Parts: sequence; C-alpha cells; structure tokens
Amino acid sequence: MYMFAFMENSTFRKYTHGLVLAPMAGSTDSAFRRICRRMGATAVVTEMVAAAGLSRRSVKSHKLLRFHSEEKPIGVQLFGNRPGDFERAAELVSKLGFDFIDINAGCPVKKVVNSGSGSALLKNIPALTAVVRAVSSNTSLPVTVKIRIGWSPEEPVSDSLPAILADEGASAIAVHGRYRSDMFAGEVRKEEVERIVRNSPVPVIANGDSRSVRNALDLLDATGAAGLMIGRGSLGNPWIFRGLATGEPLDASPLPREVISTIWQQYEMMSEYIPVDHLYSILRGQLLHYIRGFRGAAELRGRAVRVDCSGDLEDILTELEELLIAERQRNS
Ligand SMILES: Cc1cc2nc3c(=O)[nH]c(=O)nc-3n(C[C@H](O)[C@H](O)[C@H](O)COP(=O)(O)O)c2cc1C
Repeated sequence: MYMFAFMENSTFRKYTHGLVLAPMAGSTDSAFRRICRRMGATAVVTEMVAAAGLSRRSVKSHKLLRFHSEEKPIGVQLFGNRPGDFERAAELVSKLGFDFIDINAGCPVKKVVNSGSGSALLKNIPALTAVVRAVSSNTSLPVTVKIRIGWSPEEPVSDSLPAILADEGASAIAVHGRYRSDMFAGEVRKEEVERIVRNSPVPVIANGDSRSVRNALDLLDATGAAGLMIGRGSLGNPWIFRGLATGEPLDASPLPREVISTIWQQYEMMSEYIPVDHLYSILRGQLLHYIRGFRGAAELRGRAVRVDCSGDLEDILTELEELLIAERQRNS
C-alpha cells in the first residue's frame, strides 16, 4: 500500500482510496468489477448509463444499474446533456445503494458528442455546470466528474474548470489525459493532467494508458494526482490492481492456474445475471482479453470466438493453461 500513503485525506479518498477501475461500456460489467475489487481496485464505476434513459425508465438503462454488494464502493456513471434528466436520474440512483455519482464529460464517440453529451460538455461549460449542479442538488452522495484535458490542443480545458466543478459540488475529478480529438490514440499528455491537478481544489484521479504497474506509477509521479483510474490495462489483466495495491508488481503476476480460476469465477458470476442466450457472446469478448501475449494465443483466440457452451469453455481453458505453463517455462 506504499504508493497511497502520501495522499491527502478527502471525501472522495474515503470512498475510493485512489485506485479506481475506469468505466468501460461493454467491458466493465458487474462480474468484471467484482474480479477487480478482489484484486485490489479500491472503487469501481458502472458502464455509462443514459440519464435520459433512466428518466424514462428504459429497461436497457436500468439493467446497467445492476451491481453486487461485493463491488462497493461503486459509483454510477451518468451521461447526457439535459439538467432535467440528470435531476431525475440522480434522485433515482441515490436510492439504489451506490456510493457516488460520476458524470461523463469525456466520451468522444460521435453519437454521444453530437447530442451535446460526453466530451461535448467540455465545449459548453454552462451546460456542464448545470448538469453538475442538477446532480449535486438532487443527491447526498459525493459527485465526481470524468473529463478529458480538452476538446483539442487548440481548445484545452481552462485553468478555472476544476474550481468551477468543485463549486458546483464535485468532490473529485477523473482526468483522461487526452483531448477529444485524440480519441483513444496517441500518448497520454501527462503535463496537461498535471496542470489540472495543480489547479484543482479537489482530488484528481489520473487516467490513461496505464498498461502496466510501471506505467501507472509513472503517470502518478508525473502528475501528482491523488489516485489512478485504470481502464484497458485491466482487461484480461485484473492483476494490475494487485501489483498496485501491494507494490509488488512481479509477485502479483498470476500463475496459470489462477488465470483459469479467475476466468471461471468471472463466467460463474456472469451466468448469475446474463440469460443463457446472451451469455456466451458476452463471455467471448471477455475471454479474448485474457488470450494474448503468448505463443499460440492467435490460434486459441480463433477458437475462443466460437465458444457457445460450458464444455467449449472448459476445452479452451484447459488449452489456455497448457499454453501459459509452456510460456512460463520458456521465460524462466
Ligand atoms: C471500450 C471502452 C469503453 C469505454 N466506456 C466508457 C464509459 O462508459 N464511460 C467513460 O467515462 N469512459 C469510457 N471509456 C474510457 C475509459 O474509461 C478511459 O478513460 C480510457 O480508456 C483511457 O484509459 P485507459 O488508457 O486506462 O484505458 C471507455 C473506453 C473503452 C476502451
């Protein structure tokens, strides 16, 4: 736990301890979030949920609110652009046992941005402040905002934005160190994250490209952030949280049998809430994250995309374990 010893105490820290699983639509479902909590993530966030969908009681949006008590502390992430939707959504989600509410002001996807939501809010500060106010005045939970460093290099977020968000009730800000124009590519701009940290009266959680414990610690060091949010680096590698939580990155890497038992656990948890006719198509996506980076992975992935019963899964995992053992022997 050495890395967090220096961090200041704050409302948000009380909830998160600073090692957060990033929200990733289509990937960070309840089962994966539970796995990450077990490995050492100190807080998780739901996939983004449309505030408007909650307002009009859409089944699809409500399904995204499912979580297990083992995931706590958990934040629910809302996206949208109309304060009225956020008011109703904040009221509704506040009754469901979540620990904080996060507002999405970072999603770069065209459909989201074209409706004025996600990172489009970074270009419309009156709308962003109205949304933050709508949430904070309709909940007693801590409110957090997830932003990017700006719309484009020509339109970075202003130095005053963190204080504006804090004034409207934000307890913490997560910053993905890219512009909207970067989408998900290119190097994370640590100096821009550091600028936001420097100007923020509330804790900042740094995010972007923490693919290894080393990368994550570099991001933390370079930015002086109060915590880290890990996204893609955790997919197929939830052990990254164990490395960060224990400060023992090498000891934290899993033995082949642990990889297999983790995937089984994830599958069993998924089957508790996903109907069997959808289970395997969703499982395949998760499975592919674990099958990479060793000899024989490409061929096994070709088979993993066809898994459609537990017998298939068992065969794939038996072979995965053999390949991982062989890889370890080659590297030792
Ligand atoms: C497939 C995918 C889905 C994502 N969905 C969300 C989302 O629902 N809400 C959000 O705020 N960010 C979302 N993001 C962005 C991540 O939370 C994170 O900010 C970004 O991936 C950078 O961090 P990383 O390099 O550690 O992955 C998503 C990213 C990916 C790759």
